[in-house]
Amino acid sequence: MPEAPPLHPEDRVLDDAVRAIRFATELEPRLALVLGSGLSDLAESVSGATVVDTTDLPGYPRSTVEGHRGRLVFGWLEACPVVVVQGRLHAYEGHSERAVTLPVRLARRLGATHVLLTNAAGGIRPDFEPGTLMWITDHIDWVHRRPVIEGSTVWARPDRSPWDLAWQRRVAERLAALGITTQEGTYLWTLGPSFETPAEIRLFGRLGADAVGMSTVPEAVAAREAGLRVLGLSTITNAAAGITGAPLNHEEVLETGRRVRSRLEQVIRVIAGDLAGP
Ligand code: HPA
Repeated sequence: MPEAPPLHPEDRVLDDAVRAIRFATELEPRLALVLGSGLSDLAESVSGATVVDTTDLPGYPRSTVEGHRGRLVFGWLEACPVVVVQGRLHAYEGHSERAVTLPVRLARRLGATHVLLTNAAGGIRPDFEPGTLMWITDHIDWVHRRPVIEGSTVWARPDRSPWDLAWQRRVAERLAALGITTQEGTYLWTLGPSFETPAEIRLFGRLGADAVGMSTVPEAVAAREAGLRVLGLSTITNAAAGITGAPLNHEEVLETGRRVRSRLEQVIRVIAGDLAGP
């Protein structure tokens, strides 16, 4: 018998995290919510919450970004069992692909079948004003990482697109009926941590990108690979560099996040309500 390959240290973290979380809660989330910059406090809408601080999970990577607290909030939203991941991990913090994708892989191990990934993004399309909500219907991987996670060959598959367009359209229709308009577009993933130059944004626009940001793509790909159905929703927090000529800052990103909070909460409630039930 060939020997099993040794467990990667970061996969041991995953096993240990599942065990530790099971001491805290038996809840099996159906929907995982990964919340981006300035949106973390949406976890406060979760009822019957059990909060697991990720610093209590041995080896769990630490987020160092302002507006990203490391907590997993288990509970109920519109009668749907959920886990909210607060404290997204970014490649630009020096985290490996395994670390960045750990939260979605953990959610899968805990029972999740669906994931919504939200982020803050810069708008490249001139009509995407700050506050626009854009479904990610396709992406461009400007980071060009092709790691292999858990022996998978996902990166070599002909169809790499992780986005669940049928689910996205159903949610968008429900929202439109409630008077909430959403857009669709292509998200370009950059490593960051700096925002782009105006010349880069002009280039990305010509390549077909509608929005730009520093997250979500690795989690989406890993989530799909793990068998989750995936939605990605960008909040356009600012016009990307050079689009309006106004200077960019992280404060504006957080401020727009606060401004769209109630709309995003409605989006999340519609998604959760749709997944509730036996
Ligand atoms: N560029 C990259 N990432 C971002 C931006 C941006 O303009 N806004 C929010 N996240």
